[in-house]
Amino acid sequence: LCLAGLPLLPFLPSIQQTSIPVALRGNASRGREVFRGRGHCLECHRIGGRGSFLRGPSLDAGWRDGSALAARLRERPRPADFPEEVPGDAYLLESLLRPGAWLVPGYPDLMPAATGPLLRLGPRDLADLLAFLNPAPAGEKEPARSVPILLPPGPDPWTTLPPGDARRGEQLFFRPDDASCAGCHILRLPRFRERFPEVFWEQGGLSGPELTRLALVESPARVLESILRPQLHPTPGVEEALVETQGERLLSGILLAEGEPGILLQGATPAGPAFTWVPRDSVGETSPIRRTRMTPVFADLLTPQDLTDLLAFLRACALESERLGPDSLPGGPLGARDPSAAVIQGRWPPGVPLELLSRIPGVRVDWGLPRGATPAIPDRRQRPDPPGKHPSGNPKD
Ligand code: HEC
Ligand code: HEC
Repeated sequence: LCLAGLPLLPFLPSIQQTSIPVALRGNASRGREVFRGRGHCLECHRIGGRGSFLRGPSLDAGWRDGSALAARLRERPRPADFPEEVPGDAYLLESLLRPGAWLVPGYPDLMPAATGPLLRLGPRDLADLLAFLNPAPAGEKEPARSVPILLPPGPDPWTTLPPGDARRGEQLFFRPDDASCAGCHILRLPRFRERFPEVFWEQGGLSGPELTRLALVESPARVLESILRPQLHPTPGVEEALVETQGERLLSGILLAEGEPGILLQGATPAGPAFTWVPRDSVGETSPIRRTRMTPVFADLLTPQDLTDLLAFLRACALESERLGPDSLPGGPLGARDPSAAVIQGRWPPGVPLELLSRIPGVRVDWGLPRGATPAIPDRRQRPDPPGKHPSGNPKD
């Protein structure tokens, strides 16, 4: 194959063997639709002030000036034999086609390949995504992008599962006595809002990640593994940490941020989240112990039939939510717990400079505000209170 003039060949060796490159002119507004729709990128990434805070890095910084997003490759650890100068498109394509190749530090290898069996995007979608993420400088014409035509992906692994009973899975999910999944996880669908107002809105919010559309972006094998052996797949942003301080106090909470200046933990009080800031010089000898907050008891509690039904239910939720469209979720595109919303509501620990959060490496917050701006706006977009709900989250109060 001759790839003269096309930037792909030297950078994507594994892709090169199974693909034919084509030059396509992408369309940024179609790319935006793919990002929000079929690509399900919003489930894990934040861009333009929308999307998830958990799972994947924010793509906001540098976006709009797309070159800066593509230039992130300079900060990414990568194989030593890679050339120094890699075109931005090639980095973004690599991120899309082989997400595990250059991992963003602090994030697990959980992004599904854009052209793989879950997301199933084609060459036209790739060109459109590049035009959206790495736009031509203002006033310049959109260049033709080199993207590969790959072998078609195998069947979507969700379609090859043994059939389960989604209704029974739903009962299991919401039953308070045994599986009690809903005690820690939010599912947002209009029909749950009527049936389970307390569960739907708040109960799970602080413990586990939202699961509404998980079955669109993770394979059933991985979801199953997360249920049976949660410690294998901690979800970024909801991990728990135990921190020993110099005073030999032991603090625990959700690890929101860890870096040179210190460690930020989030705990829960009946009135909402509470933050504990532990400056680096008061952290004790041992480094924080990380542990999952999902109890690893389900391998004993659930039968294979229970698991099949739970998977069928999670898939049904994801498809139902997908049919409703990216803007249909009450309260915003993704109900991922949003640490900045709580901070913006003024519960940031007094005396700790607000800017600090965004400077701590690995921190997954995006202010949605220009740097240095005063974040005075209460941000309720993500989770408006349902009418008549008591703030303690206990409807009986
Ligand atoms: C299931 C979650 C998930 C989905 C869905 C997902 N990503 Fe990712 N993405 C991640 C994670 C986690 C990382 C960081 C780890 C890595 O580098 O693979 C990442 C990394 C990236 C990066 C590199 C960012 C950087 O800072 O260098 C880009 C670009 C990207 N994703 C684009 C996309 C696009 C476009 C889509 C939609 C087609 C998408 N992602 C879908 C989880 C996801
Ligand atoms: C005690 C609270 C709790 C209960 C009960 C619980 N989970 Fe979890 N779950 C979590 C937490 C916390 C995580 C994130 C893993 C981590 O990093 O600690 C998680 C992660 C997951 C994930 C992976 C999510 C992702 O983003 O990849 C799935 C799937 C899941 N749980 C399903 C279930 C199901 C199904 C049940 C019921 C059988 C259940 N959970 C019960 C707290 C809980």
